[in-house]
Amino acid sequence: MIQETLKLLEISGAKEINESINMEELDQVRVKYLGKKGELTNVLKSLSNLSQEQRPVVGSLANELREKLEDLIEKKGHMLKNIEIDNKLKNEKIDISISKNISKAYGHSHPFTIVLDDIKEIFMGMGYSIAEGPEIEYTKFNFDALNTPADHPARDLQDTLYITDDIILRTQTSPVQVRAMLNGKPPIKIIAPGKVYRSDSVDATHSPMFHQIEGLVVDKNISMADLKGTLEMFARSYFGEKTNIRLRPHHFPFTEPSAEVDVTCFVCGGSGCRVCKNEGYIEILGAGMVHPNVLKAGGIDPEVYSGFAFGMGLERIAMIKFDISDLRNLYENDIRFLEQF
Ligand code: PHE
Repeated sequence: MIQETLKLLEISGAKEINESINMEELDQVRVKYLGKKGELTNVLKSLSNLSQEQRPVVGSLANELREKLEDLIEKKGHMLKNIEIDNKLKNEKIDISISKNISKAYGHSHPFTIVLDDIKEIFMGMGYSIAEGPEIEYTKFNFDALNTPADHPARDLQDTLYITDDIILRTQTSPVQVRAMLNGKPPIKIIAPGKVYRSDSVDATHSPMFHQIEGLVVDKNISMADLKGTLEMFARSYFGEKTNIRLRPHHFPFTEPSAEVDVTCFVCGGSGCRVCKNEGYIEILGAGMVHPNVLKAGGIDPEVYSGFAFGMGLERIAMIKFDISDLRNLYENDIRFLEQF
């Protein structure tokens, strides 16, 4: 009688285990047969009703069946788990195709490039060509040829990044003046944009690497009036028709006379505001008449030719033009900043 019940339980248990299609169903089958109130458990509990002889026989049959069912459940469990993992992997496939919307997000030029392109265009319109020089430069071009002798403070280790005793990271684009003179004959009319390096720590207005644009004109009868006219033309084209410039006496070793050049504040027009710190004017560059020693170093006869030169900081111009208060914004490539241009 009980043997028959066990046989039936074996058949129906194996069938139900086989037919469960997920872990949940399988667990229900386990509880139905092997749980505390399960069918096989009930059989085991009823063993006490049996006779002394029958008890061990039926008992071992029932235990065998329990092991058998447990074994089947374990195997089926493994199978179902593998299927579940496979399904998960299938459904979790990462979509690496690009969305239509993303492809619409075009980039645009960095503010530096915008400023540089505009400035280049103005000078090219005045007949200038673009020159270049190396960022790793000989001291003889960066200093000596620019009338800046060995004992000049600008050559100090504190200010200048040396590679060897006579090779440095250029501190200014002015050595391109000398290279341009050595490479060509007057008339020379160039601008030379590029990176320059100084031993400065980073803050809102300093960086050990920054950008300058050098300008050089060498020809017969070039005078301070040409310099002033050129810079005025540039300032009006770039900052607006009403802009005036102001030359303040200054000193650079490689120009004589030298000047610092300011433009009337393009925000307040000269009456004083936050942007120009109530000065009415904003300094934009250094300039002057090329020193005779520099012309000589460039292989040009100062008795025949004269010239003017200027150098402006690109960071400074960009910060003025776009009202940027911290220079670091220009280097950090934060999309929230760049998006504004
Ligand atoms: N090279 C100078 C500087 O870095 C700027 C300058 C260039 C001044 C040309 C005069 C003429 O400060």
